[in-house]
Amino acid sequence: MKKVLVTGGCGYIGAHTIVDLIENNFEPVCVDNNSRSTTALLQGIKDITGKTIKNYKVDLCNFDDTYAVFQENSNIEGIIHFAAFKAVGESVEKPLLYFENNLSSLINILKCAKEFHVPHFIFSSSCTVYGSPDKIPVTEQTPEKPAESPYGATKQMGEEIVKETTSATDMQSILLRYFNPVGAYPSALIGELPVGKPENLVPAITQTAIGKIKQLIVHGDDYPTRDGSCIRDYVHVCDIAHAHILALQYLIDKKNNSPCEIFNLGTGNGVSVLEVIHSFEKVSNVKLNYTIGPRRPGDIMAIYANNSLAKEKLNWAPKYSLDEMMLTAWKWELKLKDDEALHGNPNFQMN
Ligand code: UD1
Repeated sequence: MKKVLVTGGCGYIGAHTIVDLIENNFEPVCVDNNSRSTTALLQGIKDITGKTIKNYKVDLCNFDDTYAVFQENSNIEGIIHFAAFKAVGESVEKPLLYFENNLSSLINILKCAKEFHVPHFIFSSSCTVYGSPDKIPVTEQTPEKPAESPYGATKQMGEEIVKETTSATDMQSILLRYFNPVGAYPSALIGELPVGKPENLVPAITQTAIGKIKQLIVHGDDYPTRDGSCIRDYVHVCDIAHAHILALQYLIDKKNNSPCEIFNLGTGNGVSVLEVIHSFEKVSNVKLNYTIGPRRPGDIMAIYANNSLAKEKLNWAPKYSLDEMMLTAWKWELKLKDDEALHGNPNFQMN
């Protein structure tokens, strides 16, 4: 079995990707310092796949500790690098924290990849690299605008670091630009565990519906869009996860035309905040307590993907509809509530 190092494997997209790797006969090696996660999702992974995944609780900003993971695991076929901070607002308040954490971890992991001759590298990037685009949908060729936040800047710089490293080594790489990953594993055994009050729309919706948040604020309904709210490209986390397996296999099969390729991962559908809310209300049968608030600073009006390249070259076909995204997110929130009723709140215990 081919070994794949998954950094940030205890996180939301990382855990879903580990499940998919196992289902495709890869051997995931999980590294996560649990600074923004717990090992709770590893239990869910075991319940789904029957496999116990050990986590290396290692801070990738520590080079020696990172190096030791590579020493212990020979013949790593690929690295999928998820580990990073991702709260846009926090990044504005603490830019140095974001630059230090997101970039030094990346640099360390690339140094190890080079030293241990790891042939394939997949980087978690984001549609945030496009900034506020002049034209939508965005293709991979759409020019990048200045980043709207330090978080966004770490993704732009991260892409550059991976690109340059790829061209200076034998490593082959892929940059995956996620749009808005949402939803949860259909059986609700794994899902998103936001730290503190969620900034992102879908966890904010489900937490409002369950009563953890009093009221959802829609950040603006005066944009020049069809209903006045912002437009995004929501894509199911399992579809995002599967793209990593396809990307890795694409590199292993030497199907890439250049050493570093970029793919947009979105459904190609632009959906407004109010449409997301209405889909949620329909599938959950819950009337959501929401109100319209002011615009959120830094938000862009509309962005969605042209995903033709991922479809054509990776053979990626996102399967989940918006209603299914909302239903799986809701089932996960209900599951968390059941767990809490039974055991207190194990998912939020930090270890
Ligand atoms: C942003 C980044 C994305 C990053 C993500 C990580 C951009 C274009 N996108 O996503 O790259 O990975 O953060 O956190 O920079 N909303 C509400 N009420 C809420 C929460 C959100 O109305 O309580 C609205 C927002 O105004 C926005 C939409 O919902 O229009 C989606 O917001 P969110 O889920 O935070 O994602 P992005 O800001 O698109």
